[in-house]
Amino acid sequence: MTQLDYPDPDLADDLVRLRRWRMSDLPCVEEAASDPRIPEGTTVPAQYTVAEGCAWIERQMSRQPTHWGLSLAIADVATDEAVGLIVLMHRKMPGTAGLGYWIIPRARRGGRGTRAIGLLSRWALTDAGLARVEARVEPRNEPSLRALRKCGFVTEGILRSHLYIAGGHRDVVSLSLIPADLAL
Ligand SMILES: CC(C)(COP(=O)(O)OP(=O)(O)OC[C@H]1O[C@@H](n2cnc3c(N)ncnc32)[C@H](O)[C@@H]1OP(=O)(O)O)[C@@H](O)C(=O)NCCC(=O)NCCS
Repeated sequence: MTQLDYPDPDLADDLVRLRRWRMSDLPCVEEAASDPRIPEGTTVPAQYTVAEGCAWIERQMSRQPTHWGLSLAIADVATDEAVGLIVLMHRKMPGTAGLGYWIIPRARRGGRGTRAIGLLSRWALTDAGLARVEARVEPRNEPSLRALRKCGFVTEGILRSHLYIAGGHRDVVSLSLIPADLAL
């Protein structure tokens, strides 16, 4: 399995910085927990408490040292406030990682999701030397699909009944980005 180190320096542009999680990012976790969508598909606690929030941040900090992958806060580049999460999860196939992300509701529709996906996936396929970054998205999740396609991700098809979420099996769209896509 490919081991991922944290990007050094942080990946950033004029809108977002992808940085390590800090305990001071609790307000971001609390806002994420209040969103109807985020706790449903992630490990963000649906019933937020400070203890649950701290445990969640500790788990993000443990992702890289335990070889799970990388979990980064999406921070506003001007204020350094965490407004989202982006992860690269090792898959069993060497050189392949799965991408996941969310932005807290009040920071959506400002281009941050697209920028974060673009920065991390490009870095994964260049500096980190991965061969494939993949994403699985519910067909109705238009913002997520639009952001991925804007970053060059190619739709591969539908994985039927692939995702078990909220007590049911759901279809997902499978998309991927490989180094050849970056040259287009
Ligand atoms: C998916 C998500 C991360 C996108 O983050 P974001 O910062 O709002 O995304 P952007 O501002 O970069 O917008 C991405 C695209 O979606 C469009 N979009 C954003 N919100 C939209 C909405 N509610 N309805 C329709 N289109 C929308 C934007 O216009 C943009 O498309 P464009 O560049 O063609 O104009 C965010 O919506 C989110 O956190 N959703 C809940 C969690 C989730 O679904 N995570 C992904 C699981 S696969």
